[in-house]
Amino acid sequence: MTSPASPIARTLRFYEAPIGKKAVMALSGLVLVAFVLGHMLGNLQLYLPPGPDGKHALDAYAEALQHNAPLLWGARAVLTLSVLAHILSALQLAQLKIAARPIPYVRHTPIASTYASRTMYWSGPIVLAFLIYHLLHFTTGQAHPNFQPLQVRANVINGFSVWYVSLFYIAAMAMLSTHLYHGVWSMFQSLGLAHPAYTPKLKLGAKAFAVLIAAGNISMPLAVLTGLVK
Ligand code: HEM
Repeated sequence: MTSPASPIARTLRFYEAPIGKKAVMALSGLVLVAFVLGHMLGNLQLYLPPGPDGKHALDAYAEALQHNAPLLWGARAVLTLSVLAHILSALQLAQLKIAARPIPYVRHTPIASTYASRTMYWSGPIVLAFLIYHLLHFTTGQAHPNFQPLQVRANVINGFSVWYVSLFYIAAMAMLSTHLYHGVWSMFQSLGLAHPAYTPKLKLGAKAFAVLIAAGNISMPLAVLTGLVK
């Protein structure tokens, strides 16, 4: 009688199959989607007036997070692992796709794929490039002209006062939105939640989510550029 494979061996064997890579991509994507939504809701406190102590809600929120080391570093560890798993599974799935069709189509007229799905392999790297710039801009400050630790509201307003920086954020958010639209829809499929009967509703849900994230995030540089938030 053969001994049962260990859970680690079974997990690795599952990951070796394309469906395993898709599941990892979908689950890591789910973590990132939850972060993008939570981060946007937190940042929208930019619009709230200061409290009775004169402190702005966004600064109080950032300070509370910075002072909760287990939460902050726990979230950073989960996010870093999710980003790495998402990239690794994307690269390995791309490799499998190329191996399945080593010679590209002479003439490729897509019928079933959407613009968003065809752009996944370059919208992903652009979002990653944005993320690296964004961390240097608002978290560590090296790419910020006037960075002040823990003055998050002032950093955001000063950062977005530079018109070409705001323009870059707006373009990156449009790119993130196309990535999210196809990503959320694929996630439903990879996790086995899609069914022909609900396809239109799931696609509409993915689109609504992508538009909501784009609108909320784009509103912030626009509010600073137009002087709505000072
Ligand atoms: C207009 C849109 C956005 C604004 C105004 C914004 C603002 C900020 C600010 C102010 C910080 C620093 C917070 C602090 O130090 O307490 C930050 C950190 C961060 N942002 Fe954004 N963000 C935006 C969009 C995004 C997007 C789309 C992503 C992901 C794709 C993202 C990912 C992150 C990450 C990973 C951090 C580091 C969190 C940490 O570990 O401290 N942000 N953001």
